Amino acid sequence: TGKYEYLLVEKKGAKENVGLITLNRPKALNALCDGLMVELADVLDDFDKDEGIGCLVLTGSTRAFAAGADIKEMQDRTFQDVAGKNFLSAWSRLAANKKPVIAAVNGHALGGGCEIAMMCDIIYAGEKAKFGQPEILLGTIPGAGGTQRLPRVVGKSLAMELVLTGTSISAADALNAGLVSKVYPVDTVVDEAIKTAEKISSNSKMIVAMCKEAVNRSYENTLQEGLLFEKKIFYGTFATNDRKEGMTAFTEKRKANFTDS
Ligand code: CAA
Repeated sequence: TGKYEYLLVEKKGAKENVGLITLNRPKALNALCDGLMVELADVLDDFDKDEGIGCLVLTGSTRAFAAGADIKEMQDRTFQDVAGKNFLSAWSRLAANKKPVIAAVNGHALGGGCEIAMMCDIIYAGEKAKFGQPEILLGTIPGAGGTQRLPRVVGKSLAMELVLTGTSISAADALNAGLVSKVYPVDTVVDEAIKTAEKISSNSKMIVAMCKEAVNRSYENTLQEGLLFEKKIFYGTFATNDRKEGMTAFTEKRKANFTDS
């Protein structure tokens, strides 16, 4: 649509049940300026309301997924500016999204670019992708989850190495570290993400949201807290028609017909 300055927004998949969001600020390597992040929050709201959409894919260009927060915009900001105006607060909208989001990363995913990829639920990388948190080289630290999500995902040693040196890792290293779940050739990674998103979209949207919430609990809490939370969500699925239909379809050896109820 022509609604956005920094994004391209499309519906994809045979059933048009996948929302594709492409960061489109090529001259700045998709640096995540305030305007871009406000637009992203708006698109997420729109897709959230769209009952036909079951899963989203977030991507950039082949050169850059995103090269971080906009350094030129941040350059002259003071402590009072950033703390007083809750700088980056719009960013948490992505992490809070109910529908699953798959990041399809080509090129640079640096600083805020790596952080927004980590806010997504699944990361697929193109072979030439680079992940890093170079904020230390700018005299600052990651400000949108880099010091928290990265060690949870890749462990302390590699996370410390990345945030303290500012060097980046390859797609192969990211796969090895568990930061991404698949690596594909550069020109197929978006299509592969869309295929996975179609699979997710074919499931009950309501149960998908419950499942995503439960996995996020495991990631955000202790195991005991997570297991308690999981059990409650698990019991909750038994209050739905789709759980009944899913199990009935299995015993009747047919495909489930979910109604999101
Ligand atoms: N902010 C603003 N502009 C950026 C940018 C950024 N993060 N990254 C790249 N650009 C701009 C460049 O200034 C350049 O613009 P001009 O043509 O006007 O000079 C244009 O994009 C192309 O960039 P390069 O010429 O540098 O391209 P390159 O291929 O030589 O290098 C790069 C690519 C290694 C990614 C390099 O651009 C780079 O190091 N970018 C900055 C990466 C970075 O430090 N990111 C962290 C930002 S801080 C942050 O994200 C805080 C947080 O936690 C939220």
